[in-house]
Amino acid sequence: MCGIFGIVFQKEHEDLGRIMVQAAYSLTYRGYDSVGCAAISTEGRIDLRKDIGRVEEVDGKYGLSGMRGIRGLVQLRWATFGVPAQRNSQPHLDCDGDLVGAHNGNVINTISLREQFSEEGHTIRGENDGEIIVHAVERHFDRLSDLPGAIMAAVGDLKGDYAYVISHQAENAIYAVKMGSSLYLGVGEGFVCVSSDLPSILELTSNIVTIRDGEFLRFSWDQYQLFDIHSGQPIERRPERSPHTKESAHKGGHAHFMIKEIREQPEKVANLLHFLEESAELPRFTEALRKAGRLFLVGSGTSYHACLVGSYYFNKLAGLAAIPVPAGAMVEQYGDSLRPDDVLLCVSQSGETKDVINVLNYCERRRLGQALAFVNVLGSTLSMRSRNFLPLVCDLEISVPATKTFTNQLVLFLAVANALAGGGKVNLQAIPGLIEDTLAQTEPRIRQLAQELLPVNDFYFLGYGLTHGIAYEGALKTKEVVYNHCEGAYSSEFKHGPLAIVYPGYPVIFISTVEDAEMVSSHINEVSCRRGRVITVAPPQPLLEKYSSDFIALPVEDYFHVPIAATIPLQLLAYYMSVGRGIDPDFPRNISKTLTVD
Ligand code: F6R
Repeated sequence: MCGIFGIVFQKEHEDLGRIMVQAAYSLTYRGYDSVGCAAISTEGRIDLRKDIGRVEEVDGKYGLSGMRGIRGLVQLRWATFGVPAQRNSQPHLDCDGDLVGAHNGNVINTISLREQFSEEGHTIRGENDGEIIVHAVERHFDRLSDLPGAIMAAVGDLKGDYAYVISHQAENAIYAVKMGSSLYLGVGEGFVCVSSDLPSILELTSNIVTIRDGEFLRFSWDQYQLFDIHSGQPIERRPERSPHTKESAHKGGHAHFMIKEIREQPEKVANLLHFLEESAELPRFTEALRKAGRLFLVGSGTSYHACLVGSYYFNKLAGLAAIPVPAGAMVEQYGDSLRPDDVLLCVSQSGETKDVINVLNYCERRRLGQALAFVNVLGSTLSMRSRNFLPLVCDLEISVPATKTFTNQLVLFLAVANALAGGGKVNLQAIPGLIEDTLAQTEPRIRQLAQELLPVNDFYFLGYGLTHGIAYEGALKTKEVVYNHCEGAYSSEFKHGPLAIVYPGYPVIFISTVEDAEMVSSHINEVSCRRGRVITVAPPQPLLEKYSSDFIALPVEDYFHVPIAATIPLQLLAYYMSVGRGIDPDFPRNISKTLTVD
């Protein structure tokens, strides 16, 4: 989705352009099609440069890095309202060019507001909702001559979930508003900045103020003031040191963030286990789950796949029924039957996914269901609005495909299920070592396999029981970074239709535990007797090995460790196929790291 950044310095800064371009680069992981920067001089001259293209292209064409000024705004746009075009790129100017602003999120009544504002005589240059925000503020500013008052009044015009930054040429300050999309403030030496994303701030400072929905702020180079957007009441909130590090925003010698994040999984799991040992959060969390009427596990994409695995862990370890639901389906499927004592465990890396936030909004409005969460980004909407949350302790995940956060979601589900079962049923401490061994032992064969599978455009991943969600995740990762058509399915379901696809050599990747080998080998036989190519990922097991064309052995013995270990070769397969096809796995086309739209 879009990303925004704004910064105010004490005096004209010759490096403003370079800092804005650096911020733009650190927002790229959200996915984007246009880039824009506005630099404002001490005298209030607004220099606006923007266009469609990658940061380096727009920088090369318009010299963004050389821009100078005392304050600056940056925006990366992922098109929703209006085609990718220079006129729709952000930031935007108001009619007479003294206000400049940029947004992140969606203003859903853009079309009617554009008509209304045009009728009122506004000059609207494009179709983008960010431009509508600037005009909404302008029309109230023209009336009130007071920017905070105009910002408060504009809230009444704008429907949707958004955050924006806006600045007037005559005032050396930036205003920022949070109404449903992420926003963080950074307080540094000689500057204050704001951004939709932590990485762009962490490059400059780790003193962070988290902004909540319904708040706006004014900041100059040496101070900031926070207000309630409805009442205008000032809010006191001091900066805190962010636990996320700027190292996570660097590749550290790896070719891509994706492979860096795959390889750092043993360390991230160890950090999570350390956190769980030290903190009192886990008992509090499990207590809330025990009291749940019904338990729903809610997430989108990869996080939903973790919920699928989590439901098996809860069932098998703690005898607890947990219903996994894609966040986007939760309200439609279960909304009318939710009860106040139901618990929704919302799982999200970003903590900003709109499908998840919609569920929170629905439950809050009706006082139904209590939201708990697993979340990676601290200070995110989900972390602030859930009753209780457990952090994934992964540091920032930059690559668009989720890898280390998925693994830590699995480990967290396992730890919670183990605690619900009274503890001691699973050896959690062994997991970092077994991931390390899995990386070392499977990577060479997976690299070869990736080459062999490069010409194939279509295959299946099948799981059974505990590995059900891993099959879905393997397929999603491959679709996402290889642009292959892949499906994940429950292996018993394959014979009910999809088996018809199989032709000699058609690849089907099975993921199995040893305990399920008998059942899975029967499913394998259904494919192999039609001369499909069976690739099995499982701990060593003679039956499975015998019927598979290729066998990727996982160095694990514990049944509950298999989903975690099996994830690693599937991540590696997607990565090496992506690179083999010349795709940049960190920035797959069409998608974005944080999906803040419906
Ligand atoms: C896939 C991927 C997405 C996200 C999904 C939810 O690799 O990253 O499927 O898992 O968009 O995002 P979060 O977890 O931030 O809610």
